[in-house]
Amino acid sequence: MKNRKILITGGAGFIGSHTVRHFVTNYPGCKIVNLDKLTYAGNLENLTDIEGENNYSFIKGDINDKELLDQLFKNFRFDVIIHLAAESHVDRSISGPDEFVKTNILGTVSLLNTALRFWGKNFEGKLFYHISTDEVYGSLDNEGLFTESTPYDPRSPYSASKASSDHLVRAYRHTYGLPVVISNCSNNYGPNQFPEKLIPLAINNIKNNIPVPVYGKGENVRDWLFVTDHASAIDLICREGKPGETYNVGGGNEWRNIDLVKLLCRIMDKKLNRTPGESEKLISFVKDRAGHDLRYAIDFGKIKKELGWEPSVDFRKGLEITVDWYLNNNRWLDRVCSGEYRQYYNQQYSKR
Ligand code: NAD
Ligand code: DAU
Repeated sequence: MKNRKILITGGAGFIGSHTVRHFVTNYPGCKIVNLDKLTYAGNLENLTDIEGENNYSFIKGDINDKELLDQLFKNFRFDVIIHLAAESHVDRSISGPDEFVKTNILGTVSLLNTALRFWGKNFEGKLFYHISTDEVYGSLDNEGLFTESTPYDPRSPYSASKASSDHLVRAYRHTYGLPVVISNCSNNYGPNQFPEKLIPLAINNIKNNIPVPVYGKGENVRDWLFVTDHASAIDLICREGKPGETYNVGGGNEWRNIDLVKLLCRIMDKKLNRTPGESEKLISFVKDRAGHDLRYAIDFGKIKKELGWEPSVDFRKGLEITVDWYLNNNRWLDRVCSGEYRQYYNQQYSKR
């Protein structure tokens, strides 16, 4: 890719920061603009290694701020939008859905409207790429996989807000001809993930010798993908994905929560020189998540066949990298765990 002006929204978050780094590093001839509101989940410390690059700019702002979007589109004349900004945590959507509607639905519409207004009817070389989730497809029993044609059946305020945004993105293609592409990805893990999510939460609690909360009986299944593999899929879809198409991205790597947490305990015992089995004693079964989806699992056959993408990072290796990162980045972890997060954690887990 050369000379493209790319807007990445939500680039200070977990997947966003890996995506920004990927594009800034791999495409020196492109201009990458990161627009992020810096909510509790956005953190510029995720990007200190690339913040001084010539082809990178950061703008603090809300995707709902139409005047700011106008100004940015005027100044930068974007060709490509990679839209990751979202409220992303299911538990927070259960205790407070409103922000999810504002950012995930209304924010997406505001970006779509701005793109449409600035691009006019000449869509040559333009792309609106919406990053979505496998949760829009609902919940699987023990059998089967989500394909691109699985009917939508979102079941949490988070997944309903993402499903709404997917529908709107497709509607702008159908109605106005906007060149859009969507990918729906399974659970990501890796460095820089906010410790409200299962893997970094478990690592942090094991490290601090405090109970590791496992919802229900720990039988729910997720399909895990290392975050840089998601960033490489996003790059490929951006370059070679067909406008109007949807691509499912997944790890082919299903784990029951309890088995995953036990594996993390074993890895942490070794890293922290604990007696084997010591960390496992921290596992604490707590009240289940309301409406907890049983199983997600992605069929990534389409992106593999059509674009040649598949996951490259072995799960055990990816977990080791992740655990090492959290053990070596105490300052990052301590800072994000202070303030708002401490309050959230107490509220979220005291009632369980
Ligand atoms: P995250 O919560 O770590 O980061 C979200 C980022 O968006 C933060 O930097 C935040 O400051 C920013 N943001 C929030 N509201 C904003 C607004 N109104 N305007 C501008 N910026 C705003 O999320 P993540 O886990 O990195 O997920 C990124 C995207 O990928 C989301 O769209 C999510 O739905 C999707 N996704 C996530 C996963 C996963 O496993 N984490 C899997 C599939 C898809
Ligand atoms: O599938 C993709 C989705 O994966 C993304 O769209 C979401 O943004 C992302 O947050 C993630 O959603 P999950 O709800 O699957 O992730 P989370 O890490 O919150 O939970 C993973 C599993 O672990 C889930 O079954 C709930 C369980 N869990 C979670 C937490 C935080 C626990 O048992 N204990 C916990 O404390």
